[in-house]
Amino acid sequence: MKPDGNDIHSEPWKDEALFCHDLPTEPVQDVGLVLVTGATGYIGGRLVPELLARGYRVRVMVRQEHPVHRQLWPGAEIVIADALAIESLEAALEGVSVAYYLIHSMLLGRKEFVRADRQAASNFQRVAEEKGVRRIIYLGGLGDIRGTLSHHLRSRTEVASELGGGSVPVTILRAAIIIGSGSASYEILKDLVGKVPIMPVPSFGRTRCQPIAVRDVIKYLVGVLETPETNGKTFDIGGDDILTYEEMAKIMGEVLRKRRFFFPVYFGNLDFYSYLASLLTPVPAPITRCLMEGIRNEVICLDNSIKLHIPLNAISFRTAIVRAFNREEQDRVRTRWSDAYPPAHKLAMKLHELEEGPNYSARYSIDTGKDISKLFRSICRIGGNEGWFHQNWMWRLRGTMDRVLWGVGSARGRRQSGGLEENDVIDFWRVENLQRDRRLLLRSELRLPGKAWLEFTIEPAGQRHRLSITAHYYTKRRLGRLYWYIFLPFHDNIFKGLLKQIEERS
Ligand SMILES: NC(=O)c1ccc[n+]([C@@H]2O[C@H](COP(=O)([O-])OP(=O)(O)OC[C@H]3O[C@@H](n4cnc5c(N)ncnc54)[C@H](OP(=O)(O)O)[C@@H]3O)[C@@H](O)[C@H]2O)c1
Repeated sequence: MKPDGNDIHSEPWKDEALFCHDLPTEPVQDVGLVLVTGATGYIGGRLVPELLARGYRVRVMVRQEHPVHRQLWPGAEIVIADALAIESLEAALEGVSVAYYLIHSMLLGRKEFVRADRQAASNFQRVAEEKGVRRIIYLGGLGDIRGTLSHHLRSRTEVASELGGGSVPVTILRAAIIIGSGSASYEILKDLVGKVPIMPVPSFGRTRCQPIAVRDVIKYLVGVLETPETNGKTFDIGGDDILTYEEMAKIMGEVLRKRRFFFPVYFGNLDFYSYLASLLTPVPAPITRCLMEGIRNEVICLDNSIKLHIPLNAISFRTAIVRAFNREEQDRVRTRWSDAYPPAHKLAMKLHELEEGPNYSARYSIDTGKDISKLFRSICRIGGNEGWFHQNWMWRLRGTMDRVLWGVGSARGRRQSGGLEENDVIDFWRVENLQRDRRLLLRSELRLPGKAWLEFTIEPAGQRHRLSITAHYYTKRRLGRLYWYIFLPFHDNIFKGLLKQIEERS
């Protein structure tokens, strides 16, 4: 049954901008409270607006509260919990009927994520059972469990077993690579094909895979909620094409209108290729390594029974990439792989959390008569495709040095070239604080012998405005101090030039 409403708002889920507007299932009214975990992640971030538009009562579980969450999900209840801290799950699962489990800790790296994901799923299952949750819906990975699976794919099946280890029925959806704007797999493929004219194809390039468009994934996630017969069952979900990675790269080349030459090679060391991919694409090494580990496993749907319950016209691989391009061109990427960020990560410490404050700071300013909003808008356009306005090569070189050292480098770019929100990535920075027309604070995610921030401020200065850039740095190490003094002479030239460029572009 459809939720009540009137006229244009009565069927908001039919809005064309939403992925589920043409879903063959209909919203169900008596579902109760729906919990979405992993909502700050790539899939969760797209699922929540769809559920809200379809009239569901949604509670979103995040590890860290942020004002931007209220803007992103108006009408949703927000609860703070960490699946690794079992006691915090009690409040999150209180009164919940259905829980989406979209938690994944890949950013912790190969050594850590398997253990963390298993523990998180086991905690979640225990508390869900205690709290009388009626249903869990989990999105995991495809892969034939009879074969030898990669760490990553095996971990996805372990999570499924942990979640299903109690009395709460679990619907498991198993997907191969997900293609959509902002997805890590899509960005790796696009950047590799875009940058490498002659492509070596190791034997694993001929492994078959069944990619799926992100919009189809969201439709299935919502569709199973609206189809009670899917409760407690496992389904493989995939697009209509079964392709090798080489074929996918060729299609990508055609869409990019780039002539690419492919030749077979016998050297198939995965560490080497994933490191190379991390250097050439925006996706950092811990993620490329985890994703590429699974490349030797054939990931195709072994069972298509989902189509009996949710008969979708799946989007082809080619259409999925064309749509992803369009989204990027329109600057309308909703979520990106770089959005998820563990708050306990060593790089997550905020400037105001430093007890003694930064021990090094250098400030550069100019006074200007330019309009304050225009100045702030120019500041907010730095990085990504626009570059750093002045001495861009130096920023790029710094990013490349970081990449070589397995860091994030500058290739991550940014999600949108216009809008900026807290927690957004700008090359090797993350937005820590954004106060419209006053302040932009960026936190460095470079591999450094210390912690660094870059602060842009606009303050009144008589009849004019003072535009400033302050570099903050904190270290207790000798190498850290040496690093500061080595780079200090470059700051003067880079930041003064940047200030001038911001003023000119305003
Ligand atoms: N994306 C793909 O291409 C793809 C393909 C196939 C299957 N899948 C499956 O889809 C699911 C979701 O993937 P995704 O790509 O959306 O992942 P993602 O972007 O990496 O997001 C992971 C989410 O998990 C949260 N999280 C991590 N550890 C947590 C903890 N201890 N407690 C609470 N929350 C925690 C993160 O929150 P923070 O922001 O706080 O870190 C983030 O919201 C996964 O099971 C994945 O295997 C994804």
